[in-house]
Amino acid sequence: MLKNKNIVLGVTGGIAAYRAAQIARDMSKKGAHVYCILTKNALNFITQQTMETLTGNPAVVDMFARPDKWEVEHISLAKRADVFLVAPASANFLGKMAAGVADDMLTTTVMATKAPVVIAPAMNVNMYENPVTQRNMRTLRELLGVTFVEPSVGLLACNDVGKGHIAADADIIAAVERALGKKDFAGKRVLVTAGPTREALDPVRYLTNKSSGKMGYAIAAAAARRGAAVTLISGPVALEKPDGVHRVFIESTQELYREMEARCEEQDVIIQAAAPADYRPAQVAEQKIKKTGDEPFDIHLVQNPDVAAMVGQHKRPGQILVGFAAETQNLSTNAGKKLLKKNLDFIVGNDVTRPGAGFDVDTNIVTFYDARGETSLPQLLKSEVADRILDRVLELM
Ligand code: PMT
Repeated sequence: MLKNKNIVLGVTGGIAAYRAAQIARDMSKKGAHVYCILTKNALNFITQQTMETLTGNPAVVDMFARPDKWEVEHISLAKRADVFLVAPASANFLGKMAAGVADDMLTTTVMATKAPVVIAPAMNVNMYENPVTQRNMRTLRELLGVTFVEPSVGLLACNDVGKGHIAADADIIAAVERALGKKDFAGKRVLVTAGPTREALDPVRYLTNKSSGKMGYAIAAAAARRGAAVTLISGPVALEKPDGVHRVFIESTQELYREMEARCEEQDVIIQAAAPADYRPAQVAEQKIKKTGDEPFDIHLVQNPDVAAMVGQHKRPGQILVGFAAETQNLSTNAGKKLLKKNLDFIVGNDVTRPGAGFDVDTNIVTFYDARGETSLPQLLKSEVADRILDRVLELM
């Protein structure tokens, strides 16, 4: 993936700057052309010469140094980048970038680039958890689509324990590869379900839920971007069809059941993020139901089929089945039960009462449950959750 790609590597001032040397080396070994830009503060921790020796390219610090050959260097590096990586990124750098400050070579170049930007923050835990830093990261995600490789938890150089350690080199390089558009799902058929169902009561009324389809659409978009042939079975939502995806609309859980029954056999991966109704009105009135006096009106409901359980019963060898669990309490117990009942390879649990998680928001906070245990992710954009789910699917394949 990295062969002959131009990676601009920004290095900011922090003790984790020494890790930039290994990251640059590993990317160079994989065939990338790595161009380093160091901030003046980074020079307190690592030298220009180290980065030049490891990459075989000039490393830049000063905006106004006389270049050997004339070109506006920050613009030329900004244009040359296939991916712009900043590792480690300090709180100061995040603040400047989020505020649009361009006062050195790194901030100027990152502002001028059109390439995907990947940032691996590293700092003291209190600085990382500071709401200003968190707000800056949100701004960069939302305004510019920056991908963050979250720091890990551990004993920090300042002797505090907490989140702030730069992520593992392999995770940072994997994020760069993803940003380059890794086609790791080429040749795979992926079916995704998304959105709510509508269970008709009469010609104008129905029972439904709050699903917007955002989670499922993000998965379908990510799978298509990564090279899969994607079928998206969608309930009624107001979202654009993602590029390169075949979309089939359904209304009710029974319709979803029929579509899935017809299509599940041929799929390599099935990811069920839809929120089908568990119950439907026993009778659908042919005409609009009229108000009669002041009497209460009872609706008799019958159970809908469990689509994921049916898909689980038909699971063929080698097929990967992923479900979701939307819970308001006892997430881990309930998700564990659904994992078994629906014969899934793993289930993505979300506590839909948490701010920033679940229905009709752009982020989610999820935990993966499988036979080995559970893995909790931080609050991420649904597009990032989608990539994490697909990474996990690949591990299982
Ligand atoms: O669409 P968004 O606004 O982005 O919101 C995302 C989401 C909250 C809908 C999504 O993250 C999510 O949790 N989807 C699953 C919702 C749900 O129906 O959860 P559940 O715990 O009731 O069902 C468990 C699994 O069984 C799900 O994979 C569901 O698709 C499936 N199911 C449920 C009922 C049913 N009759 N048939 C099913 O196949």
